[in-house]
Amino acid sequence: MDFSLTEEQLMIQQAARDFAQTELLPEVIERDDAQRFPKEEVKKMGELGFLGMMVDSKYGGSNLDTISYVLVMEELSKIDASASVIVSVNNSLVCWGLETYGSEAQKEKYLTRLATGEIIGAFCLSEPEAGSDATSQKTTAIDKDDHYLLNGTKNWITNGGTAEVYLVIAQTDREKGHKGINVLIVEKGMDGFEIGPKENKLGIRGSDTHSLNFNDVKVPKENRIGDDGFGFKFAMKTLAGGRIGIAAQALGIAAGAYELALKYSKERKAFGTEIANHQAIAFKLADMHTQIQAARHLVYKAAWDKDQGENYDLSGAMAKLYASKVAMDTTIEAVQVHGGNGFVKEYHVERLMRDAKITQIYEGTSEIQKIVISRSILRD
Ligand code: CAA
Repeated sequence: MDFSLTEEQLMIQQAARDFAQTELLPEVIERDDAQRFPKEEVKKMGELGFLGMMVDSKYGGSNLDTISYVLVMEELSKIDASASVIVSVNNSLVCWGLETYGSEAQKEKYLTRLATGEIIGAFCLSEPEAGSDATSQKTTAIDKDDHYLLNGTKNWITNGGTAEVYLVIAQTDREKGHKGINVLIVEKGMDGFEIGPKENKLGIRGSDTHSLNFNDVKVPKENRIGDDGFGFKFAMKTLAGGRIGIAAQALGIAAGAYELALKYSKERKAFGTEIANHQAIAFKLADMHTQIQAARHLVYKAAWDKDQGENYDLSGAMAKLYASKVAMDTTIEAVQVHGGNGFVKEYHVERLMRDAKITQIYEGTSEIQKIVISRSILRD
């Protein structure tokens, strides 16, 4: 067993740390306040190779392992979870899905531009009445020989307004249930495709989340990924990897809040000494540090499983379930350590607390992760 990172992984971790400090930190509060998408920052992340991290270099990717990806996610999320979710969705849900299951023509047409960050992508599964219950798709993709006719609404879509390429899950044959679902590549600007209003959110306010409407959108047959009826499996397999990315995001949010609380507790004085010298605070730091380390081990193990070609459904679900709880608990405690200052935006911890909540909700709620975990342990 070897817990050390390679030279290359350490270098990538440092690059992400530097980028987060120099490029993300300066305007993160303003972006959060104004719900401003980090357009320039995303462009720079593309130049650094963060948007197609695991994609083969022949498609413009960085050809790195999943460990490197989670290291980058962790570092970016310490500072700006709005930026990191853009990275996570583009890497895990869009690029990985296209590279693993797309045709050569689809990869040539879309993957290279997505992996270099020239454009970004979105993953469209959730609907007004199909969130956790993802097989209940109301969006339809009716087979019209040379094209599919797409109709319906998708909700809470990350990168909803800024993406150029959308992977849309829709029901083709209702009688076949989840085996009658397809995934289609939809381009921004196709006739009948409308982007709905932007959501006004509690956290990750810099990421742009929209509903999407499809009204008789003609999607060419060659835009279907995989065989007829593969759409639900595609969604499940893609989300299994996505959950590792979100687990790393949660880990980063927790670690970022902990680092701020540690620093503050060594500076702030009360009752004649730095507050870190009071056991009430020191024990909070001890709990945070221990739980973050435990979460880190789960996240790295899930990434390692993926890199080894092992099944990562269970380890990814456990990592997301636990790391998102640690993110929530740690950020609440980090605000507490900061006292009145914790409630003020310029100290950053209140934003991290707001950002933490979504990690228990998207890419499968904590309750869904427990379904995945319990089914897996009961089956084995
Ligand atoms: N890999 C491959 N196949 C899988 C799979 C996996 N990990 N998990 C399930 N499947 C397959 C099953 O084998 C089954 O196929 P067969 O009948 O051929 O065996 C099929 O999928 C249906 O599975 P279930 O019978 O288990 O379906 P279910 O209705 O009980 O639901 C669920 C399963 C795990 C609850 C699933 O619905 C789920 O994951 N729900 C949560 C959805 C989710 O994560 N949404 C997130 C939205 S995306 C997002 O947030 C992105 C963003 O923008 C940030």
